[in-house]
Amino acid sequence: MKTIAIVNQKGGVGKTTISAILLSFLPKKNLKVLGVDIDPQANLSIIFLKNLPENPTSYDLLLGKDIEPLKFKDFDLVPSTLKLARIDQELSGVVAREYRLLKGLSKIKELYDVIIIDTPPSLSLLTLNALFASDGIIVPTEAKFLGIVGLSNLWEVLREIKEYADKEIDVIGIVPNLFEKSVSLQRDLLNKLNELQIKVFHPIPKRSTFQYFSLGEKTLDDLDSFTKESIKDLIEGVVEWLKKEKAF
Ligand SMILES: Nc1ncnc2c1ncn2[C@@H]1O[C@H](COP(=O)(O)OP(=O)(O)OP(=O)(O)O)[C@@H](O)[C@H]1O
Ligand SMILES: [Mg+2]
Repeated sequence: MKTIAIVNQKGGVGKTTISAILLSFLPKKNLKVLGVDIDPQANLSIIFLKNLPENPTSYDLLLGKDIEPLKFKDFDLVPSTLKLARIDQELSGVVAREYRLLKGLSKIKELYDVIIIDTPPSLSLLTLNALFASDGIIVPTEAKFLGIVGLSNLWEVLREIKEYADKEIDVIGIVPNLFEKSVSLQRDLLNKLNELQIKVFHPIPKRSTFQYFSLGEKTLDDLDSFTKESIKDLIEGVVEWLKKEKAF
């Protein structure tokens, strides 16, 4: 079993969209998949649910309560709740507060091959909990020069976790999202990415279909062939990583 967090402190770069893509397509690779939404905005939960339930919630998971994830046709989900916005206060002064999600998941993780955590747009206690619970991260970013440069805070947090907590987190790859074809953009982006020496997945183009998808109104089957290729590249990359990590 391996846990993957979808992380970028910048808002609106596609964390939730990519989490939903992974929940939709990884089960087709014969993997048992759990999604965990730890963003108080609850966008991932809202894609799949009409109403947010009282339980199970990732809030209870963080507070160490026993929970049973919701079951969908192909995957399970621990949805978010607005109460998560209070978690900083709830956990202030509590020991090992960055490890609460890791501990909560330890009770259910053996039921799954892979756990996908959607995180809020910050490097807050919630995101730190996701990082401490994860073996690897996927970093969606706007497919622009500045989007890539803005990742330095995240690399610094990963470095600090390694230095102070002796925990190494694999960067599975960057997903350039909201890609608009333009020669100069592509050139800037590729130059900058080559400097990073991190795997870069195919860019996901900017498509209006995603707007409907995030409202739960359309399915990913409505996507064009360029987008499907990019999703295929992402899913295959994640499956390769899981095999390398002997997750299943
Ligand atoms: N490739 C795309 N083409 C067009 N729209 C997209 C694409 N990817 C994401 N979007 C849309 O952009 C908005 C932001 O995407 P998303 O919610 O996935 O980002 P996020 O990083 O999770 O945001 P937040 O930081 O607020 O959680 C959503 O309305 C989503 O439907
Ligand atoms: Mg989101």
